[in-house]
Amino acid sequence: MTERDSMHAYYCDRAPYMAKGLEIAPSGQVVEIIAELTAQAKGRAVLEVACGTGYFTRFVGPVSRRTTATDVSQEMLGVVRSLQIPHTRLLHDDAYRLEKVGEERFDFGCAMHWVSHIPLARWAEFFTAFHARLKPGATVMLVDDIRRPDDADPWYSKLATRDTYETRHLPNGDDYEIVKTFFSPDDLRTLLEPYADNLQIRYERPRWWLTYNVRDSRYKAG
Ligand SMILES: C[S@@+](CC[C@H](N)C(=O)[O-])C[C@H]1O[C@@H](n2cnc3c(N)ncnc32)[C@H](O)[C@@H]1O
Repeated sequence: MTERDSMHAYYCDRAPYMAKGLEIAPSGQVVEIIAELTAQAKGRAVLEVACGTGYFTRFVGPVSRRTTATDVSQEMLGVVRSLQIPHTRLLHDDAYRLEKVGEERFDFGCAMHWVSHIPLARWAEFFTAFHARLKPGATVMLVDDIRRPDDADPWYSKLATRDTYETRHLPNGDDYEIVKTFFSPDDLRTLLEPYADNLQIRYERPRWWLTYNVRDSRYKAG
């Protein structure tokens, strides 16, 4: 399991604050995203990585044939467990390894507000582990933030890693430095090109969302 680095500590400590978000009814773009997610998940075997408090899992699980939702934070998983989501098993698993998922291969994979936290040096590591758990041609849906012009969180890059970071503050008084990448549509096309067929990107503030089919590398030219 991943050591408790700054990202891990941030989300463990943030879990009780994020849980309050479950009380707010989805609105605007989130309603559209949930409609697409549930349409894709319907009747399928679903793998969701970095599920957090289960904000989206609670819509996906009930319509799916079965859902496996994973997160590295036990605190987050404790919140999801309390929701008792039908057809859903929860796994404490690192998204870069997904070792506990087992032999099952899924029809649909999703990750909400996760890929912006992947250091660029670990991008291939994550997608290799993730796609290995999906069937060839499986559908993937990813959603993440577009930075708001009025966003107050300090945002900066480091030459050493070429990643961008935010300093996040929590009501407990602590500050945490986390990787946070705000992708352009061209960034997403370039990064996903090796893996994705039928890539469809919607880039509309406050979030982008995309779907693609996992390319079957057995039939890759060359
Ligand atoms: C921004 S939250 C997104 C939660 C949820 N998907 C949502 O949209 O509400 C990011 C999540 O990634 C999880 N996370 C961070 N590092 C991880 C890792 N290495 N493996 C799995 N999950 C991780 C955190 O615990 C947190 O729940």
